[in-house]
Amino acid sequence: MLNRRVAAAVASLLAGASAASAANSTIECPDGLQMIIARGTGEDEGPGVTGAIGLQIAKLIEGSAVHAIDYPASFDQPSYFVSVSNGTAAVRETLTAYTKACPDTKLALFGYSQGAQITSNTICGMPDVWAAMAVMGAGSRNAVDILSIGDAVDEEYTKNIVSVVLFGDPTHQSDAPYNHGTGIDSGVFYRADHKACDALGKRIRSYCDTGDPYCDVASPTNLTTHGVYVETYHEEVIKYVVDQYTKIQGGIADASEDGPSPTQPPDSAGAISFGAISGVLVAVALAVGTL
Ligand SMILES: *[C@@H]1O[C@H](CO)[C@@H](O)[C@H](O)[C@H]1NC(C)=O
Ligand SMILES: *[C@@H]1O[C@H](CO)[C@@H](O)[C@H](O)[C@H]1NC(C)=O
Ligand SMILES: *[C@@H]1O[C@H](CO)[C@@H](O)[C@H](O)[C@H]1NC(C)=O
Repeated sequence: MLNRRVAAAVASLLAGASAASAANSTIECPDGLQMIIARGTGEDEGPGVTGAIGLQIAKLIEGSAVHAIDYPASFDQPSYFVSVSNGTAAVRETLTAYTKACPDTKLALFGYSQGAQITSNTICGMPDVWAAMAVMGAGSRNAVDILSIGDAVDEEYTKNIVSVVLFGDPTHQSDAPYNHGTGIDSGVFYRADHKACDALGKRIRSYCDTGDPYCDVASPTNLTTHGVYVETYHEEVIKYVVDQYTKIQGGIADASEDGPSPTQPPDSAGAISFGAISGVLVAVALAVGTL
């Protein structure tokens, strides 16, 4: 599997994956770009399929390193809800630790599927619908964990970020200015308030394609879509991240400012009821058991 080959290749790039997640313990500051990658549900420990992109970028930006987020990435045992809470805390801790320890190091965040959710939770805060799930007790016995995600990180922890790339994010919101791909609806845990992410301007991209049942719930389901983001967009994403790094490192303001937003279809997510969402979750659980 691509996953295994990449995992082996990326191993050499991984800088103290578990050590660094213990906050400030043994962080090494790379000369190039520090990438922080969160894998999707059920992927082997490490950066998952997105590691292939990290590998290519490391070839283009000398002295770069990859840190894979250490979290359960599970659908159950622990439950998706607990895993997301754990993972969000891990991304927050990692981002905070690198920013403190390496104030001159530029950072690039990547997340696929559940990994996209924990990454966007960190940058953008907890979506209301996620909190509503906890209140309803939908599918979880542990509301405290679910609600522990909290607000977006302070600006001081996003200032070194050159790019955030999300693939198939369940918190995808149809009207967000940072959307890319063909998806037209919102995700299972849609992010109605995305102001904190909007503030990143060109430094954030969320890729969602039509038919992905996790980020584009209203479209006819095409599960294949959820599995091929890296294949579909790797060239575009590698160019984007390297360009962002080059411009921001070179002090070109345009790379971090808001540009003209891609045209988005009108927001339809507001119309999705919680009942519909629970239905989707159940369908999703039955269909694959992977998110
Ligand atoms: C690590 O960070 C914690 C909390 O910020 C602090 O109490 C501790 O002294 C730090 N340890 C080192 C080795 O810097
Ligand atoms: C989060 O998950 C990691 C690894 O999957 C585990 O080592 C850690 O204890 C968990 N932390 C919490 C707070 O559950
Ligand atoms: C489902 O998605 C895959 C990958 O994007 C695509 O190749 C395929 O044509 C799609 N199938 C349908 C029925 O749209």
